[in-house]
Amino acid sequence: MGEVNHAVLGEKAVAPPEDFRRQARIRSMAEYESQYRRALDDPEGFWREQAKLLDWFEVPKAICEWEIPHAKWFVGGKLNVSYNCVDRHIEKRGGKTAILWESEDGRTLPISYRDLHGRVCRFANVLRSLGVSAGDTVAVYLPMIPELAVTLLACARLGAVHSVVFGGFSSVALADRIRDCGAKVLVTADGGYRRGKIVPLKATADHALESCPAVRSVVVVRRTGEPVRWDDGRDLWFHEVDSRAASDCPAAPFDSEHPLYILYTSGTTGKPKGVLHSSAGYLLQCAWSMQMVFDLREDDVYWCTADIGWVTGHSYIVYGPLANGATVVMYEGAPDHPAKDRFWQLVEKHRVTILYTSPTAIRAFMAWGNEWVERHDVTSLRLLGSVGEPINPAAWRWYSEVIGRGRCPIVDTWWQTETGSILVSPLPGATPTKAGSATLPLPGIVPRVVNLKGEPTEPGETGYLVIERPWPSMLRTIYGDDERFRRDYWNRIPGVYFTGDAAQRDGDGYFWVLGRVDDVIKVAGHRLSTMEIESALVSHEAIAEAAVVAKPDEIKGEAVVAFVTLRASATASPELREQIADHVTATIGSIARPAEVRFAQSLPKTRSGKIMRRLLRELAQKGSVTGDVTSLEDLAALEQLARTKGIDES
Ligand code: PRX
Repeated sequence: MGEVNHAVLGEKAVAPPEDFRRQARIRSMAEYESQYRRALDDPEGFWREQAKLLDWFEVPKAICEWEIPHAKWFVGGKLNVSYNCVDRHIEKRGGKTAILWESEDGRTLPISYRDLHGRVCRFANVLRSLGVSAGDTVAVYLPMIPELAVTLLACARLGAVHSVVFGGFSSVALADRIRDCGAKVLVTADGGYRRGKIVPLKATADHALESCPAVRSVVVVRRTGEPVRWDDGRDLWFHEVDSRAASDCPAAPFDSEHPLYILYTSGTTGKPKGVLHSSAGYLLQCAWSMQMVFDLREDDVYWCTADIGWVTGHSYIVYGPLANGATVVMYEGAPDHPAKDRFWQLVEKHRVTILYTSPTAIRAFMAWGNEWVERHDVTSLRLLGSVGEPINPAAWRWYSEVIGRGRCPIVDTWWQTETGSILVSPLPGATPTKAGSATLPLPGIVPRVVNLKGEPTEPGETGYLVIERPWPSMLRTIYGDDERFRRDYWNRIPGVYFTGDAAQRDGDGYFWVLGRVDDVIKVAGHRLSTMEIESALVSHEAIAEAAVVAKPDEIKGEAVVAFVTLRASATASPELREQIADHVTATIGSIARPAEVRFAQSLPKTRSGKIMRRLLRELAQKGSVTGDVTSLEDLAALEQLARTKGIDES
């Protein structure tokens, strides 16, 4: 796919800080390599051993049944996910804080494991009284409040499948997802807070439910107290039903492969895909990777800044940490509210020891300036993590020096919604790090960088990142579309899992993940499909055709650029540009709002009529096109576009 990257080959590895190394779970590369070798030679024995991390009602009979592309893990085993995250900790650490919730306006609510147990049991009983039983799907559209974690665990307790929709999605996006997953119950809130403003979740949900007739009950958490529309036959206040519910709800055993959740993510078509995860393998690998990657200890105060609306929140706010009996900080709001030192103030206030955040956040902190950090004592931090997008070396170094004071290792963790848990990452006490590389695979994981024929690329040469063997937390299918599951992940390069990422390996075998090779883009770490944005655009009455590409953005990594051609009845204007951007916000959500809308007379196409995104990308990024244009149907159109950067700007 490309030339050899000498910068990657020249980067020197830096050993873990000695103080950290000495106390770490895994203290040397020799230890890592021996575990890696063991998992490679005897995967069943390796995972059987790790499975002891969980409490089983019945131990598995077989470790893995693999018939490409379908894996079954811990076959014959029975457990309850919520029991593993809550009940089993009560005896040893019932009074320990499980969730340390902080509201945007600075209130703290610590919830102990014992409290959490009561809340989960009560809400499980509420769901049961609404007719939810094992295998049913519950849709969840909540802000970052404790009820969100409670809802997930209550579903898991009953064997119900949860499907969380990020609170920033619009009513159209919410309705699509609710219909696709077949939920009959929705859990939402009157609203949430973001930068001091109210996000009217209930109103958005009401709108969505107009096209979801199957939803018969809506449980509403009162968070803001603002008046909301009420449907007496359908809506229930969370606090009312919860206060009437019994607090005894035994955790029933479910098969290892019982479905745990569906989480929608963007793919290469306009339709989001419902990634389906199952119980034991997912929970185990989340719990195990927490120990490996975050070197988790009993007294850690661990803070993952993701939203539970995304996979990072599922795996590393709820399931991984709670399965380990950890204390997790859960923060409701934005990093710059009321001021740009909110994160550092929180680290100081709660003496946070492990911080897991995104490159976009790190780049924003860098841009805001060190003085915001310097106002606070952040010396409680001992380990820093990054996730969601490639981290550029400058941001990596700033994170290490200014936040980590040179004493905290950085774990740049590579994984995906589909992989369920972290697959490639340094082990903080063992792996020498290189700024910008996720380094090496965890034991049990066999990634490769290959060309389209499946042949390995040379060191420094770009190829496709694939994974050779099944792993416990891998997605089981795309809900309702097993064919798409095969096509997207298993048929691209036969025999291996296709990640959709481009990557390189260097001479030390380190992985450098470069970004997506498909029509998926990452804006502020949020995964978006260019096709989904295009279909939102063409549903606007003024637009005839649309093409969406990404351009680099200093803070957000990438930004959305939309090229549109107008219907004869419409006229290009700055107002129309705003209306079009608003329309995308209304159809998908503000995360998909184009940074630029550019009007064009026509879009460049191949002879077969395919829009040439490559050229548009070049145009969006550099302002001109130098690539090969011989297959263009309408060269004049492209030239015109390149010359004028859009007709209304000429
Ligand atoms: O392109 C990779 C990028 O994020 C994609 C997965 O996105 P999503 O399913 O939303 O999950 C994000 C949270 C796990 C990947 O295909 N990505 C994720 N982590 C990294 C990364 N790219 C480079 N380095 C990472 N550490």
